[in-house]
Amino acid sequence: MIYQVYIQSFADGNGDGVGDIEGLRSRIGYLSALGVDAIWITPWFDSPLRDAGYDVADYRAVHPRYGTVEEARQLIKECHAAGIRVILDIVPNHTSSEHPWFRAALQSSPGSVERSRYHFRAGRDGGESPPNDWLSVFGGPAWTRVDDHGRPGEWYLHLFDASQPDLNWDNQQVRAEFEDILRYWFDLGVDGFRIDVATALVKAPGLPDLGYPDGAFLADLTRPDHPHRDRDEVHDIYRDWRRLADSYDPPRMFAAEAWLDDADRLSRYVRPDELHTTLNLYYIKSAWTAESMRTAIDAAIAATAAVGAPTTWALSNHDVERVVTRYGRADTRRRPGVAGPQLGPVDEQLGRRRARAAALLTLALPGSVYIYQGDELGLADADIPAHARQDPIWTRSGGRRWGRDGARVPLPWTAHGPSYGFGDNGAWLPQPAEWGPHAATAQAGDDSSFLELYRAALRLRRTHPGLARANDLRWHDAPGDVLAFTHSPGFGCVVNFGSTPAPIPLAGRVLLATDTAVAEGLVAPHGAVWLDLEYIPS
Ligand code: NOJ
Repeated sequence: MIYQVYIQSFADGNGDGVGDIEGLRSRIGYLSALGVDAIWITPWFDSPLRDAGYDVADYRAVHPRYGTVEEARQLIKECHAAGIRVILDIVPNHTSSEHPWFRAALQSSPGSVERSRYHFRAGRDGGESPPNDWLSVFGGPAWTRVDDHGRPGEWYLHLFDASQPDLNWDNQQVRAEFEDILRYWFDLGVDGFRIDVATALVKAPGLPDLGYPDGAFLADLTRPDHPHRDRDEVHDIYRDWRRLADSYDPPRMFAAEAWLDDADRLSRYVRPDELHTTLNLYYIKSAWTAESMRTAIDAAIAATAAVGAPTTWALSNHDVERVVTRYGRADTRRRPGVAGPQLGPVDEQLGRRRARAAALLTLALPGSVYIYQGDELGLADADIPAHARQDPIWTRSGGRRWGRDGARVPLPWTAHGPSYGFGDNGAWLPQPAEWGPHAATAQAGDDSSFLELYRAALRLRRTHPGLARANDLRWHDAPGDVLAFTHSPGFGCVVNFGSTPAPIPLAGRVLLATDTAVAEGLVAPHGAVWLDLEYIPS
């Protein structure tokens, strides 16, 4: 189980309102008690933080607000002593516009070595229009024009914010630099990397137009043979990275962020000589219905099994609405970059019930599971007032899209206190007034809480033989709104997506249930149970 630490919102050790390494170190005990095998820490590198650190200015330095490289080294040591591996987040598609390479590129002339590390081009229409029609994933044109010697000059490509210029991976210096960065952190003891936008690094030669209709605003990432997504040549980079990871003892690992729908294309990233795992985004994208979840599970297993890689599962992350909020809506599918009231009302109570069932479903699946911080507390998205929003999606869309801040709010650790124990001095995003009962210490020891459900499930996931070795998921017949599957030896999971109690279609002893207030032999509405099938009722 890999726990995603969104560093600025996990725990604040120095009382400046922002999470940091010191805060994280002080909570290793919590992570151990939860049953975490590894943490993935979102970017902590030096950065102007225009996109929450996914805009890196120095890949070998820790941002001073999070701590120092020495503290990072200590954290890694302490995590290892607690049996927890540490995965960092590498951002190879783009740097920050404050990166020394980009600054040098701005100071240099068209055609210079400095500019060749990025995608600089002359504009069309005498320089006035962008070099092609590509759009940013955050909205608006993917090109920004620079000033050359006091006059409007070339344009540079940025698939995300203008503060995130795309690197040119045809440039050998770029390749060498990133291998060196990986080595730097591997040498420090880091166990692996999540690779940000792993599919985007290589662009089609000549940067051809995509052919957007007039008025298009958002990047369309769905076309086959896409000029800036999932190009075949990207795999050469990952083969090199794999050789590098394998040269360490123990070998280091990679997890690709690859939002690809095509199972065959996705599986290429996890071939035996490439990356180890890919984050499972089928699962995050699915609606909460028996049919869609089963389809997503089968697709994910098929995609990775075809190349012998393990499957991974995640219900949410820092880019999507939290599970409780998403599953409390009428339409439970994930919508990219969109959140908030524009998606309709949220029935939080329903969302909570479904999120508990989703926890048991997810933790019963074979492979590794990612848990986004705070989902184990059953947190919902917070309504962030317009003036406090920080996500570039909010600004780039001119306020049309709320962005991702609602899922990024600092965690509540204690029921009381100015920032619910997050730190001594407030929190960088406002926390909801009703968060006290959701705090970690308020839930600990309460068997009906989210936290204890997660803890119990994670304990069983390590100790029950059918779960610890789960790799032979078998579906069983069940009514339309119910999913039932088993692993050998002796483990069963039943999930009821419907709104009335459903008979449990497997015989066994209940190990864990989202809701115990139902008659024996039934699974609660919007609920789930785990069963020990070795138990034969008399
Ligand atoms: C994916 C990251 O998860 C997201 O937070 C970020 O904005 C983009 N990549 C750009 O780096």
